[in-house]
Amino acid sequence: MTQSTEKVSASHSEEHMLGHGFYNKHSHEQAKANTYALPLIVEAINRIDLAQIGSEFGIADYGSAQGQNSLLPMKTAIAQIRALAPKSGRAAIPISVTHTDLPTNDWSTLFQTVLFSPDSYLAGESDVFCFASGTSVYQQIFPPNHIAFGYSAITEHWLSRKPCNIPNEIWSTRATEGVRNTWAAQAKADWHSFLQYRALEMQPSGQLLIIGSGGGRRRQQRRRRLNQSCKSHSPAVGQRRHTIPG
Ligand SMILES: C[S@@+](CC[C@H](N)C(=O)[O-])C[C@H]1O[C@@H](n2cnc3c(N)ncnc32)[C@H](O)[C@@H]1O
Repeated sequence: MTQSTEKVSASHSEEHMLGHGFYNKHSHEQAKANTYALPLIVEAINRIDLAQIGSEFGIADYGSAQGQNSLLPMKTAIAQIRALAPKSGRAAIPISVTHTDLPTNDWSTLFQTVLFSPDSYLAGESDVFCFASGTSVYQQIFPPNHIAFGYSAITEHWLSRKPCNIPNEIWSTRATEGVRNTWAAQAKADWHSFLQYRALEMQPSGQLLIIGSGGGRRRQQRRRRLNQSCKSHSPAVGQRRHTIPG
C-alpha cells in the first residue's frame, strides 16, 4: 500500500490545540469518556493470544494529545497483560507504548506527564517503554504486524483536512445538503484510510479499541455502517460496539 498523500504542515499549528498542558487541565469530560473504556480494554486484552505475540507487546495510543487521559487506559492494559502473561507461559514480556498525535501536538507536556506523573503507567513498572510518533493517524505509523493492542479515544472526528467552508454555520450537520455531503465524503475517505493502515499495523490476534462520540436520529444506521466497514478491513479490527451512556 502506498503512503497517503495527506501532509500535515507546520501551518496547522495555529489551528491546533493550545500547548503548555492546556488540554490536560481542561479535558475532564474526555477523561470521563476514557473511564468507560476501562472494562473494554480488559476484554480486548483477554482476546489477544499472547502466545502469538513476539518478543515485545506493542501498544499504540492513537491521538494521545498531552497524555493525561491516556494514563489510566494504558495502566489498565498493562495490568491485564501482566495478569495474563504467566497463564500463557510468558513470565515476562516487555511492553512498548507509543503515543501518536499530530506533529504540532504539545509533546513536551506529553513526555513530562508520562515520565513524571505519579499516576503514570510507568510508575513502579519495569520493562515498560514509552515512545511517541507525530505521524497522522491517516497515514501508516508502524511497520506491518507491529501492534498487539491499539487504543484511540475521541480522535477520529478530526478529519485529515477541511474539505470546504460551511457557510453561516459551525456544525457540519446543520449545513446545506451539498456541503454536508462534501464533509461526509471526506469523513468516509478518512475513516477508510484509518482502518486500512491500522489493519496493516495490527498483529493477527491484535485488538483495536476506538472510543468515539456520536448521536442523532440516525444513530443505529451509522453504527451498522461503522461495524460493516470495520469488518471489511480486517478481522483484527474490532467488530463489536458498546453504547456508553451520555
Ligand atoms: C479530543 S483529543 C483526544 C485526546 C485523548 N485521546 C483523550 O481521550 O482525551 C483529539 C486528539 O486527536 C489529535 N488528532 C487530530 N487529528 C489527528 C491526526 N490526523 N492524527 C493524529 N492525531 C490527531 C488531536 O491533535 C488531539 O490531540
